[in-house]
Amino acid sequence: MSGRCKTALLISGSGTNLQAFIDAVRHGSLHLELSVVLSNKADAFGIVRARNAGIPTTCIEHGRYADRATFDRAVAAKLDEWQPDLLVLAGFMRILSAGFVDHYAGRILNIHPALLPAYPGLDTHQRVLDAGDKWHGSTVHFVTEELDGGPPILQGRLPVVSGESSAQLAARVQTIEHQIYPEAAEWVGEGRVEFRDGRTWIDGAVADEPIVQTFGREGTRL
Ligand code: GRF
Repeated sequence: MSGRCKTALLISGSGTNLQAFIDAVRHGSLHLELSVVLSNKADAFGIVRARNAGIPTTCIEHGRYADRATFDRAVAAKLDEWQPDLLVLAGFMRILSAGFVDHYAGRILNIHPALLPAYPGLDTHQRVLDAGDKWHGSTVHFVTEELDGGPPILQGRLPVVSGESSAQLAARVQTIEHQIYPEAAEWVGEGRVEFRDGRTWIDGAVADEPIVQTFGREGTRL
């Protein structure tokens, strides 16, 4: 890749992870070019965050399209105006079709709030509490056709606190997401981390297990 890694961020909501990317670029720890923020919801607060940071925004509302494939084609056509090297899903609450994933093969990142492969899907925090797990966290992974099933890159984990609510746990997990997601994306932008043959490669070697970082109760890196 010549020049900085052109990155499109896809959001549906508050965009705190988007904000973490914006802040990391501002502080000089992340060297991606944040080219465009695309939302499928016109009222997503992340659009305001992007505008405040001077990043172009675009909105494609899924409700206006007959089906997933048509919506995905519209999203890809719009994103391709920026010729992105990398797509970062930052709370983008749409399942992507196979055609879309193929179009950007190996160039889409997601963050999922669980220690994958445990707890793909929704309501992860409550499910972790219900199961009485001792650890919870979040996983940055490459996106494949399988929902939350693509090869992992980096996991941040923290201890579950006895008696805490799902909202409290979610807030603590978000604190670590804001640290690990820009970090993993930086590795991809640098070419240290790659997706090849359906697997994650780190520093030129296959890595079937993610790098795991452990955080304390308050989300500080240990
Ligand atoms: C994050 O918690 C992430 O794990 C999930 O969606 C959430 C997005 O939050 N994929 P935000 O919009 O970045 O605040």
